[in-house]
Amino acid sequence: MMASPYCVVAALLLLPEVSRLGEGVSNPGFVARITRKGLEYAHQYGMAILKKELSTINLPDLSGSVPADLIGSVSYQCWSLGIRNFQLGNSHLSLLPGQGIAASLSNNYMSVYGNWKVKKAFITLQGTFDLSVNDVSISVSLKLGKDKSGRPTASVTHCSNSVGHVSIHISGSLSWLLNLFHNVIENKLKKIAEEKICEIVEELTTSHLKPYLRTLPVTLKIDQVAFINYCLVGAPQVTSEGLDIPFKGKFSGHGRHTKAPFDAPPIKLPQEHDLMIYFAVSEYVFNTASWVYYQAGHMNFTIRSEHLAKLYTNMELELEVSPESAPCLMFTPGNVTLVPVINIQAFTLLPDSLDRELLFQLRVRTNISATISVSSNRIWGSLTPGSKLKLELIQSNIDFLNEQLMESVLNYYATYLIYPSVNAKLAEGFPFPLPRDIYLNGLQLRIHKNFLLIGANMKQVED
Ligand SMILES: *[C@@H]1O[C@H](CO)[C@@H](O)[C@H](O)[C@H]1NC(C)=O
Ligand SMILES: *[C@@H]1O[C@H](CO)[C@@H](O)[C@H](O)[C@H]1NC(C)=O
Ligand SMILES: *[C@@H]1O[C@H](CO)[C@@H](O)[C@H](O)[C@H]1NC(C)=O
Repeated sequence: MMASPYCVVAALLLLPEVSRLGEGVSNPGFVARITRKGLEYAHQYGMAILKKELSTINLPDLSGSVPADLIGSVSYQCWSLGIRNFQLGNSHLSLLPGQGIAASLSNNYMSVYGNWKVKKAFITLQGTFDLSVNDVSISVSLKLGKDKSGRPTASVTHCSNSVGHVSIHISGSLSWLLNLFHNVIENKLKKIAEEKICEIVEELTTSHLKPYLRTLPVTLKIDQVAFINYCLVGAPQVTSEGLDIPFKGKFSGHGRHTKAPFDAPPIKLPQEHDLMIYFAVSEYVFNTASWVYYQAGHMNFTIRSEHLAKLYTNMELELEVSPESAPCLMFTPGNVTLVPVINIQAFTLLPDSLDRELLFQLRVRTNISATISVSSNRIWGSLTPGSKLKLELIQSNIDFLNEQLMESVLNYYATYLIYPSVNAKLAEGFPFPLPRDIYLNGLQLRIHKNFLLIGANMKQVED
């Protein structure tokens, strides 16, 4: 089956681009660009989780003995230590193009409580203490990649932290005692905090971020006919603009099917940064959809008409309407159009037999205008006729074909049968590749050459 000339030309023009990208790498059909603004939003969310996790750091009991000049050594014990509060100070996100994303947090503060006990011979003293840890700073770099299944992954490439000053406040008026061991406790806790903070960051990446990224769908079922493949075609790329995530964005049939004879064109996203996320949806996405539904026979219509038949024979007439090739959508700035070439075969149904006889065959051309719309989770469309039908008689076994009449008959069926049926299907649309609990709002849509640009803000829905 031939693709329309437009698709072939587009595919040929692409070849140099494709080979330039290297073997096995294809252009994405769908790119999500999370802008600095979007990353800031994610960062704030991440910080809130980090704060919560850091407050759960498990502090071990401490014990030991310290020498005291006059009385020999004193043994101490600290237990039931907990974090009362972890306050995050300033946090800053930076994009490291080609490498990853770095976050630095400074001026953080932590307060710890616990019980203490000191023993010397048969004397035991005990009480509680409060400890404040100031000037905690943390610096983390993350790198995003993709795994074999085409899902995004995240790893910590760098984590360091430093703890500034630790001071202990002991209940009761035992300052002489405090002086004995505050240095020891402070140093021990400082060391523990330093060890634990990056451990928590690593754990968070493994226990929260990685599973969260895996909630991005790789394939999504559209219906009985098709699914959309949203696996990544490459690792997410950090640029000075934000984070670009390249998805395959390809429709495929559930069963056996022939590969679409075209590739995704390269897309160059415009520099937009007012909203949190921009999606570039290539015409490739729509054309692979067209290809799949065409291959599955969902663009073939059979129309039976008794009234029409009277004009030519006394028998029932059957019209078989089928596009000559998968209709190809063309994206030009501001407009989406398709120019399908449709074959129509008219048969008479012979009585007393299952046979039918070909009366005539037509080729019909028309310009169709497509409107594409977006809602918080889907992209959908509708078609409206953009021009009159142009009929061309291919073959006729009858003496005379009234083309004008035929045209109004076809217009009638197009208006009342074909467009409503296709539009009902298109209204179902297809979903955005979004991770769990993310919704889009304030959506904007613009049609560029070869692709659709959709801008939106993101909202995390708390569960
Ligand atoms: C659609 O109809 C055309 C013309 O009748 C036919 O050649 C083609 O095989 C049909 N396609 C499918 C998938 O049934
Ligand atoms: C887009 O469609 C409108 C309305 O049909 C038309 O006036 C305009 O010229 C088209 N623009 C392009 C670039 O084709
Ligand atoms: C479709 O539109 C193009 C460009 O506007 C025009 O050249 C062509 O004749 C139109 N085709 C039909 C079938 O109206």
